[in-house]
Amino acid sequence: MTATLQVHGDIAVITLNNPPVNGLGHATRVGITTALAEANANPAVQAIVLTGAGKAFSGGADIKEFGSPKALQEPNLLSVILAIEHSHKPVVAAVHSVAMGGGLELALGCHYRIAAPGCNVALPEVKLGLIPGAGGTQRLPRVLGVEAALNMIVSGEPVKSEMLAALPGQKLFDKMAASIDTLADEAMALAREVANKRPMPLVRNMPCKHPMGDAYFQFARNMVKGMAKNFPAPAKCVDAVEAATKKKFDEGMLFEREIFINLMWTPECRALRHIFAAERAASKIPDVPSDTPTRAINSLAVIGAGTMGGGITMNFLNAGIPVKMLEMKQEALDRGIATIRKNYEAQVKKGKLKQDKYEQRMALLSTTLSYDDLKDADMVIEAVFEEMGVKEAVFKELDRVMKPGAILATNTSTLDVNKIASFTKRPQDVIGTHFFSPANVMKLLEVVRGEKTAKDVLATVMALGKKIKKTSVVSGVCDGFIGNRMIEQYSRQAGFLLEEGCTPAQVDKAVEKFGFAMGPFRMGDLAGNDIGWAIRKRRYQEKPNLRYSKTADLLCEMGRFGQKTGAGWYDYQAGRRDAIPNAQVVAMIEKHRAELGITPRKISDDEIVQRLVYSLVNEAAHILEEGIASKASDIDMVYLTGYGFPIHRGGPMQYADTVGLFNVMQSMERFAKNPHDDGKFWQPAPLLARLVAEGKSFNQT
Ligand code: NAI
Repeated sequence: MTATLQVHGDIAVITLNNPPVNGLGHATRVGITTALAEANANPAVQAIVLTGAGKAFSGGADIKEFGSPKALQEPNLLSVILAIEHSHKPVVAAVHSVAMGGGLELALGCHYRIAAPGCNVALPEVKLGLIPGAGGTQRLPRVLGVEAALNMIVSGEPVKSEMLAALPGQKLFDKMAASIDTLADEAMALAREVANKRPMPLVRNMPCKHPMGDAYFQFARNMVKGMAKNFPAPAKCVDAVEAATKKKFDEGMLFEREIFINLMWTPECRALRHIFAAERAASKIPDVPSDTPTRAINSLAVIGAGTMGGGITMNFLNAGIPVKMLEMKQEALDRGIATIRKNYEAQVKKGKLKQDKYEQRMALLSTTLSYDDLKDADMVIEAVFEEMGVKEAVFKELDRVMKPGAILATNTSTLDVNKIASFTKRPQDVIGTHFFSPANVMKLLEVVRGEKTAKDVLATVMALGKKIKKTSVVSGVCDGFIGNRMIEQYSRQAGFLLEEGCTPAQVDKAVEKFGFAMGPFRMGDLAGNDIGWAIRKRRYQEKPNLRYSKTADLLCEMGRFGQKTGAGWYDYQAGRRDAIPNAQVVAMIEKHRAELGITPRKISDDEIVQRLVYSLVNEAAHILEEGIASKASDIDMVYLTGYGFPIHRGGPMQYADTVGLFNVMQSMERFAKNPHDDGKFWQPAPLLARLVAEGKSFNQT
């Protein structure tokens, strides 16, 4: 049973019991209305308490039902709330721990509310591209005041119950319980106190006004516009709350419902719901059950105190895990530590980190020049130079000193993890942890599963990723793993666009208008064009027939490595953050184009975006088919958290599904006919062709 009824003398207690957060799925809703009817029919019962078992009052709608007919199946949440309002006996909501979304709306339908301190109260629907859909926008302003309610609805962020209870004039909570332990008794006492009071109070009957009326809502609209440019829901929150102040309650409810249903089918809402599910799915690995035992990681060693080693170390210090850093020379250690200090000090200066926390974190850090000092660490992450010979020497040393069962991880971005594992006598303990730069900031962690990586090692590293607040996605071993293997095709395509007539600024602008944080050329300047240059030199030597545009190499030959040299695809001036187009770069591209005998043509923004995004999608289809990624949504998470893919598009795979794979393939066929592009480039991946033939989407793979 997902909702139970117990009668304690004159008080009936309805308890939601649908772990983990008492989601209001259909069975739970039936449970509530059935229990409510029984309590009303029982002559001994004078009043009713509604509460939640376990770790929540209620976390709200059952996300699994979203967008499915089940969500609307009677009794839907609106009907449940109506049934509570129509109860002949007063219903007291006893909220604790979590009262979010539909859970809070349910409580708002009750006649009285008592809360335990520490309860997280929120209407987070906006985070899924929606507005609250069961009266939240109409009832919350009536009990909290328009401004506090609108802030909660637009931000979706939780606020603690005791903070809300302290708001002047609030009617959200009739009472605060002394503690979560006394909540049940205090709720029963409150129920007894109000058992005979008539009429029973209803939030719907409370007044709702803002003293500044239209002016306030105009102001709120302007604020929201700046905050949420790609998402329609925040502005709709303002509309709905305004309706609460202008319309009769029932009309306001209809208005809210209409907005809710219209938003549900927008691509933005679908993208956000997809991401919500994809984030949870990423931690599930098909052949590694969630109860796979994990190894304890209480201490860590990091080899290399450079750009990545330092950033990686900070993640673990932040999570309270001690780290020992090893380098070849004391100077390198000193430099590494100084950078870590500088990063923390900047956070302290901005007020983001307290001084004592900073000191606590630094106290967890130690250094060494000797491998023998690492023997007690539970795990080691290597972040030394990207050369197989160096990795070999390091892993042989690690194999010699690390205790049995220790996890040996490499942060390599391009080398073969299986080969690195083969340098040890314990390849089952070797894994890739591919962090993104800056490693202390970027959310993405590609966890690279070697051929021989043990399941418990994989499970341990995934759990560790969660502990350091990363979005961890499993990738198989291949050149570039998921993210960089796809970006290589994207970069090649960006080069072809230059050859055919675009400028770097035109390409970047088109892609940024689509929603990417940065276009390919600004990204190159930020990462350092010399890095790609070095990779191309190595990689394309092995693939002499692979066509790519030489413009990026020519740029490097001009010494234009990017932001670090003040000049790349663009110029950068001290004190200015923007990228300034450079005439010599444009001339270099034009000269190269002329040498290739290409007459430039005007390329539309649409074509630019399609060619770049579909080049990602086609490579991703190969990656999926090869099993390098186990699901399409994992690829989306990589691009959303590591490559600045626009959130409101849901990731490359979700975007392709939204466009329709048939349409994607038709565009690709058109691009393949372009004589200046590389015909082979646009050969559809077999999986893509198959899905199109079957009328399916990536979501269905
Ligand atoms: P880096 O050059 O900034 O740092 C490497 C550090 O390793 C240097 O401090 C060097 O003294 C030290 N080192 C070299 N050989 C060593 C040895 N045998 N024993 C101990 N220390 C040694 O390089 P970065 O950028 O931090 O890269 C490190 C690794 O991370 C490479 O495998 C790279 O491919 C990978 N990576 C780099 C990313 C980036 O954006 N920089 C992103 C993701 C991965």
